[in-house]
Amino acid sequence: MRRWLLTALLLGSAVSAEHAERQSGYALLGDELRALQDDDFANPGMLWVDAGERLWSQAAGPDGRSCQDCHGDPTSLRGLANRLPRFDADSERLKNLDTLVRNCREQRQQAAALPHESEDLLALTTLIAHQSRGLPLDVTVDGAASAAFEQGRASFERRRGQLDLSCADCHERLQGARLRGETISAGMINGFPLYRLTWEGLGSRQRMIRWCNEAVRAEPMNPDSQGALALELYLAWRGRGLTLETPAVRR
Ligand code: HEC
Ligand code: HEC
Repeated sequence: MRRWLLTALLLGSAVSAEHAERQSGYALLGDELRALQDDDFANPGMLWVDAGERLWSQAAGPDGRSCQDCHGDPTSLRGLANRLPRFDADSERLKNLDTLVRNCREQRQQAAALPHESEDLLALTTLIAHQSRGLPLDVTVDGAASAAFEQGRASFERRRGQLDLSCADCHERLQGARLRGETISAGMINGFPLYRLTWEGLGSRQRMIRWCNEAVRAEPMNPDSQGALALELYLAWRGRGLTLETPAVRR
């Protein structure tokens, strides 16, 4: 199965791993989608930024405090999203933007939990990541983070699912090949949360990982698990230096 699939995919423009490029999925967009991403008034992802701004100043929890009351303007979080996930030494756990927002919401604001991929969580994470638009991905992978980083790298290389393909098979070896009408990109995460036309909506980095796992019919990963966050850390490191585009637009 695997041989057959790889051969079928390789008929075309796939590149060898050494020539795989570290480039944003933006590079593969046609003129129309680029224009859509570039124009804040047309970019559908900006609707989530607007919704995030409304939530940011909305009082919640027993003390009726908003994010704004404690954090000031959202711009105070510029430079955060491009450095996530990060290893938190106290809890000895990796944290991504979703973890930080969900934790703060429950523990400090003491308001109703924000489930993964809920519109409210996406609105807040998109608003916060948008503050770092234009800043380079820059995660820490040494020191206390190094074990998690190696776990993420191994996960990226591990073959999985009924199709027995690894992330690297598609996003390095088959970069540029066509698959079901899509051109396989370098698999970068610098646009997230982003608007995908095929989703008719916005999704997080972890939703994309789930989508790719489904494509190879592999077991889904729990988005809170250290394994899923380690993979996200490795993806962020692979894209080091690429600038954050949130909210990006993809096919
Ligand atoms: C009661 C005050 C309070 C409220 C309300 C609050 N936060 Fe926080 N938040 C904090 C404190 C204190 C920290 C930890 C110190 C810091 O990093 O600023 C924190 C940390 C964070 C962080 C991690 C920042 C970092 O640099 O590591 C994020 C993201 C965050 N909060 C988002 C939110 C969002 C979104 C809301 C509204 C839904 C919110 N917070 C509401 C007090 C609050
Ligand atoms: C069968 C091939 C295949 C495999 C295996 C695969 N993906 Fe993908 N992936 C795709 C396709 C197709 C897309 C959508 C087109 C694109 O952006 O590359 C995509 C998109 C992505 C994107 C979004 C890129 C962007 O610019 O928005 C990320 C991130 C990603 N994949 C990560 C992964 C990870 C992590 C794994 C391993 C768990 C994985 N992929 C496994 C085919 C694959």
